[in-house]
Amino acid sequence: MRIGVYPGSFDPPTMGHLDIIRRAAGLFDKLIVSPMVNGAKKSNFTMQEKTDFLKKITADLPNVEVESFGGLLANYIRERGACAIVKGLRAVSDFEYEFQMALANKKLNEELDTVFLMTSQEYLFLSSTIVRDIARHGGDITGLVPEEIREDVANKLKDS
Ligand code: COA
Repeated sequence: MRIGVYPGSFDPPTMGHLDIIRRAAGLFDKLIVSPMVNGAKKSNFTMQEKTDFLKKITADLPNVEVESFGGLLANYIRERGACAIVKGLRAVSDFEYEFQMALANKKLNEELDTVFLMTSQEYLFLSSTIVRDIARHGGDITGLVPEEIREDVANKLKDS
């Protein structure tokens, strides 16, 4: 069975993330979506909240599993018997950072490859930071995050 892992901060998950999840689910027998810790970012949502959001928005995708992990991605991949990391690439600005992470992960686990999917054009501008910024100021995040989680995301960020 070919298993892929799609890791990220998902703080919160956006339509851009869901687009990558849907497309990657078609490429692997099983796709594990995994909220993880990026040491450089302060998280606004708890791991439990992110896991619940991701489960809700992938409920219609039978070969997608959601599981959070607090350690090294390369170890997790080995533990779950996965063959590849999936990442979304937005623009030239993402490339250097993603290239560095892919090489570091390869160094930690020689058998591991990172597969990059180009983000769909309509989500090129999107990021979790932009969603948080809009919601914090009471703006409308319709169409930026999946509808099933829109209200919970907006309520948590409002007045934060
Ligand atoms: N469409 C729109 N936006 C997208 C997107 C897409 N397809 N894909 C990513 N983004 C956005 C995200 O919302 C995020 O926005 P933000 O910067 O406002 O938070 C940004 O692009 C980067 O997201 P992502 O690529 O998911 O990176 P990340 O920083 O959220 O996640 C981890 C990085 C968690 C995967 C990484 O830190 C990790 O592997 N941690 C585990 C520990 C480890 O192994 N560290 C060593 C790694 S070499």
